[in-house]
Formats: sequence, C-alpha cells, structure tokens
Amino acid sequence: MNDLDQMARQAQADFQAAPTPAELENAKARFLGKSGRVTELLKGLASLPAEQKKLRGADINQLKARIEAALQARREQLADAELQAQLRAEALDVTLPGRWRGMGGLHPVSRTIERIEAIFASMGFDVADGPEIETDWMNFTALNSPKNHPARSMQDTFYVDLQDSEGAWLNLRTHTSPMQVRYALAHAEKYKGVEPMPEIRVIAPGRTYRVDSDATHSPMFHQCEGLWIGTDVSFKDLKAVFADFVRRFFETDDFDVRFRPSFFPFTEPSAEIDIAFRSGPLAGRWLEVAGSGQVHPAVVRNFGLDPEVHIGFAFGMGPDRLTMLRYGIDDMRLLFEGDLRFLAQFR
Ligand code: DAH
Repeated sequence: MNDLDQMARQAQADFQAAPTPAELENAKARFLGKSGRVTELLKGLASLPAEQKKLRGADINQLKARIEAALQARREQLADAELQAQLRAEALDVTLPGRWRGMGGLHPVSRTIERIEAIFASMGFDVADGPEIETDWMNFTALNSPKNHPARSMQDTFYVDLQDSEGAWLNLRTHTSPMQVRYALAHAEKYKGVEPMPEIRVIAPGRTYRVDSDATHSPMFHQCEGLWIGTDVSFKDLKAVFADFVRRFFETDDFDVRFRPSFFPFTEPSAEIDIAFRSGPLAGRWLEVAGSGQVHPAVVRNFGLDPEVHIGFAFGMGPDRLTMLRYGIDDMRLLFEGDLRFLAQFR
C-alpha cells in the first residue's frame, strides 16, 4: 500500500469516526483544508521534475477525488441520521387512543318528554312552557287551594326568599298545574270577543319540586300537565285521549285503564288514572300514571272563563315514572345522579 492509499484510508476512517457534521468538517479540513495533508502534497509537486510531476499529480488528484467522495458519503450519512432522529422525535403514535368527546345523547327523561309531546301534538295539543319559580297564587290559590287550606299540605314545598307584590313567598312550583292557569288566561285574553272561543288544548311538561326523596321520589322531578277545555269536553274524552296516549307511548294495546276516585282541589270529580299491562314483567299490577279530573268551576273562573260555558278536563302525569316503566328502571334517583355509565345506555 503506498502512502496515498494509506492517506485515503485514514481520511475515510476519520470521516466515519466523526459523529456530527461539525466534526466531519474539522476532519475534512485536516485533509483538504488550506494546510491540509492533500494540499501539502499538491504544494510538494512544485519541487518535482516535470516527468514525475505529471504522474504524481494525477495520483494526488485521484486521491483527492476519493477523499471528497468519502466526505460526501459521510455527509449524506450524517444528514440521513439526523433526519431519522428528527422523524423519530416528532413521530405521532397513531396507535394511541385519541382524546375525544364522547358522543352525547338525550337524557331518557328528555326522550320521554319528546315522545309525549309528539303524541299529544298529533292529537291537536299545543305544547307550553312556563316558569319554575312560581307565585303563590298561580301554584296554589288559583288552583282552589286558598291560604291555610289543608289541601296545601299535600305538597311539601320549597319556598324562595322572595315575595310577590302581595307579600306572598314565591315557591319552586310543586306541580305543572299552574301552567293550566297561565295558558288559559293567555288564551282567554288572546280570543277575547271571539265567538265561539277556540278550544284550549295544551300540554305543559317541565321540572317541578317538592321536599321528597326516596327510591321513587326526587326533590326535583318532572310533570306533564294536560288541559282540554271546550264546551262539551267530558270524562269520556279524557278516557279516550289518555288510553290512546298510553297505547302509543308504550306501543301496545295489551293493557287496561282504570279511573280510581281521588281528590284534587282543582278538579271535581277527580281520579287517579291507573294502567295495568296484561303481559310482560309488570303484568297484572295496577300502576298509577296520572292524576286527573273535570276542571273545578272555581278554577275555570280563575282562567277568566265562564264555568257555565267552558268545561273540560285536566291531567298531570309523571314523565319520570313513564321513563322508569318504559325502560324497566327501578330507582328514580338513577335518572338524576348524572352517572354516565347509566346515561350512556340510552344514547
Ligand atoms: N297537580 C297534581 C299533583 O301534582 C296532579 C294533577 C292531578 C294534575 C289532577 C291535574 C289534575 O291536572 O287534573 O299531584
């Protein structure tokens, strides 16, 4: 091996040993720099006789080309390694499960309310919404429960630390029945002087509140009020409407309906509506699903209407109860605890 071969190998080894581009450039300078070893060799040519100069010159140029090729190869190697390292550092692990917002869904009670609305809307009922903080007059007095009347004790009540213009405490409405009064008053006002007055046919679903909490009661719960006032609307219509509702809500004909005499201050006569499925897990058990009755003349008067002309029925049912029956839920509190493991089943 001559001295030039040796130098070529040395350069190659030095380049290969350079771990970074900067160190590679230092190594390059040792061979190809201004006072590098190859440069020195070229300078040494000057002292050679013409014959040798030519041969030696060609050899040195070949050496130079080999060293440059080795340098270029190492440069590419280092650049490639740097790129690979960068790619590795910035890599996305596509196997990692993404962070995502779980798919939302309607609460089962919202589903029930939407279902109730759709069924009653198809029977010509309007859907109304009203305040959850209610006046004493709307929640009780207009519904024939005067102050200090024992009927008020049927509903243990949350009061709000605010008084209305008569000095009565506002309350969290204990039922959706005040919506009968609000809706009917607005209706009577809207059709004042129109003869005959169009019928009132409305449902009013919403949140209601009572001091009550166990497996079948929650301090916040839902009700859906119904009201149908015309000139000849009777219990027979109530029974037909309600049975039709149950048939469509539960998608079955296989049940019986019974009206059980009861008392509500705002209806006379009053009845609880019970249903019993003839088959399935609840077969044969009477289940109370609503309170109802013929609207009391005193209440019709509070609607701003003449009870000698305008008669009809009202009912109040529990969407929470209907939800539990439809889905087979045995503890009402599950509906309001906000546990996603429970709620996700209804998406
Ligand atoms: N408001 C009653 C309650 O909360 C339910 C009710 C009964 C509503 C009879 C009515 C009705 O409209 O006619 O217990």
